[in-house]
Amino acid sequence: MSTTPSAARPRVFSGVQPTSTLHIGNYVGALRQWVEQQHEGDNLFCVVDLHALTVPEEIDPEGLREAVRSVAALYFAVGIEPDKNTVFVQSHVREHTELTWLLNCVTPLGWLYRMTQFKAKSEGRESVGTGLLDYPVLMAADILLYDTDRVPVGDDQVQHIELTRDLATRFNHLFGETFKLPKAVLPRFGARIMGLDDPEVKMSKSIAAKVDGHAINLLDDEKRVRKAVMAAVTDSGRELRFEHASPGVRNLLAIYQALTGRPMPEIEAELEGAGYGQLKKAVVGVVMDTLTPLQQRYREFMDDRAELDRLLADGAERAAAIAARTMERVRAAMGVG
Ligand code: AMP
Ligand code: TRP
Repeated sequence: MSTTPSAARPRVFSGVQPTSTLHIGNYVGALRQWVEQQHEGDNLFCVVDLHALTVPEEIDPEGLREAVRSVAALYFAVGIEPDKNTVFVQSHVREHTELTWLLNCVTPLGWLYRMTQFKAKSEGRESVGTGLLDYPVLMAADILLYDTDRVPVGDDQVQHIELTRDLATRFNHLFGETFKLPKAVLPRFGARIMGLDDPEVKMSKSIAAKVDGHAINLLDDEKRVRKAVMAAVTDSGRELRFEHASPGVRNLLAIYQALTGRPMPEIEAELEGAGYGQLKKAVVGVVMDTLTPLQQRYREFMDDRAELDRLLADGAERAAAIAARTMERVRAAMGVG
């Protein structure tokens, strides 16, 4: 394989969908890992807008364009440095869709029906679009197009990355060594943040859009954050006992730990026996310490639209150069183009 990045700098690829605003789960599960590891790898961070089209009734073309810019601004606002990373919009590099088709042709349908995200999202819908089923193949194309070594994500995406590996293996078996096998990389803490209103379900953008108090959104002001955290479900106890912490209390602790980065024994020493009110106040404090500077930088990027567009155009150009080389290899392997 000619485009393999140097062994010292692994190729890293990840993305987030531009659906409404991002929440604290997206931050600790994905974005913060990207920032922490940005100097170790040769990184591509993508705003995956094509993935946001899978439910046609929900497509809002104007809203989507704005959400793409907003998510890109958030990438930079959390600390992704534009000159050290390739930040771009998926639909600006056409090879993503081309590779998806070629991979579709080697994907057994059964593999897609088995995906838990597909099962969850299609459940109860009268009609399910092909795009919803095909979503993981587009994601595999994103990853394989760049000879990716590592994919930093939250734990809900691990199954999709396993599918990507299976697809690459199958393709290589059928058409000769073409793709590298990527690995999922999970954060040390906070791979799965749960809803504040219901600690049995994963914090998710779709619930956050409907239910106040479900999530902490990255653009929430202090008043909203306080309201959501203070109302978070705990249990009938009043004081924190680490040994018997309920799911709601554990979730607050997970957020606290993820944002402070401190080891659990140290947090235990600080908070054992504290009232739930005190724990919640501590959580509001660390959340605002994270969000306040982030929101300030976000506004700066959003206010300079020309600069944001320039950064994204530059990112797309760099990504396209890599994608074009991979596609030459793939087309040759399959006998097209
Ligand atoms: P999505 O919101 O599905 O576009 O997810 C974007 C990224 O955030 C992926 O890497 C997810 O694994 C991660 N993520 C989403 N929700 C959570 C959560 N509740 N806890 C931790 N990571 C999450
Ligand atoms: N499916 C991912 C999610 O919902 C987003 C995504 C699309 C992605 N393509 C990707 C993540 C490639 C990592 C690598 O979170």
